[in-house]
Amino acid sequence: MNFDEIINNRRTSRLFTKDEVTKNQLEKILFSGSLAPSARNRQPWKFYILNDKQKTDIMNMLFEWDKANPKEKTSVKGTAQQIQTANKMIMIYCDKYTSKSKNEYYKKPDYLSIGCAIENMSLEAVNLGLGSCILCDTLYIENEINNYLGINDYEQVCGFIIGTPIYNYPPKIKKDLNDLLLNK
Ligand SMILES: Cc1cc2nc3c(=O)[nH]c(=O)nc-3n(C[C@H](O)[C@H](O)[C@H](O)COP(=O)(O)O)c2cc1C
Repeated sequence: MNFDEIINNRRTSRLFTKDEVTKNQLEKILFSGSLAPSARNRQPWKFYILNDKQKTDIMNMLFEWDKANPKEKTSVKGTAQQIQTANKMIMIYCDKYTSKSKNEYYKKPDYLSIGCAIENMSLEAVNLGLGSCILCDTLYIENEINNYLGINDYEQVCGFIIGTPIYNYPPKIKKDLNDLLLNK
């Protein structure tokens, strides 16, 4: 696939086959993330690769949270269902000097840097014939997940699931470029 095809084919994948994401593929995805630009080259991203049990436990925590909070009308249940079929899941964290910093000028650039890394990872997944989904719904149970994984010094940004998409998702309707320009 050339670059245009990769950009055009990237879609959030929500249902996956049972095919395994290999160690090599996972490493390539993380490596592509690590090549992303970052503010002052701080490279504030940290990755926690979940094993199968951890992935299942976190999925169940999300299902339980959803059951306990029926009035919240979130997408947490859908997110948990997506984790169910995903072959691999990573938790993405932000470096401690950012999460502990009171300086807003550190925080926003570092979150943006992590967004750049995640987009690289999403595009690399497509390049490898895989699909992925970014999961910010994990933040509903941020503390529970961090306690479970024993992570205290890093700030949780999101989860990220990877697998072989069960089918080719059709293109999503995106806003017209003209509607994005503030200075028409
Ligand atoms: C920051 C961010 C957080 C997201 N969180 C979730 C989530 O928690 N659960 C989920 O199912 N999808 C999540 N998504 C995926 C979006 O729903 C998806 O990107 C959007 O619908 C556009 O579809 P596309 O990625 O196929 O273009 C997230 C995407 C981003 C960029």
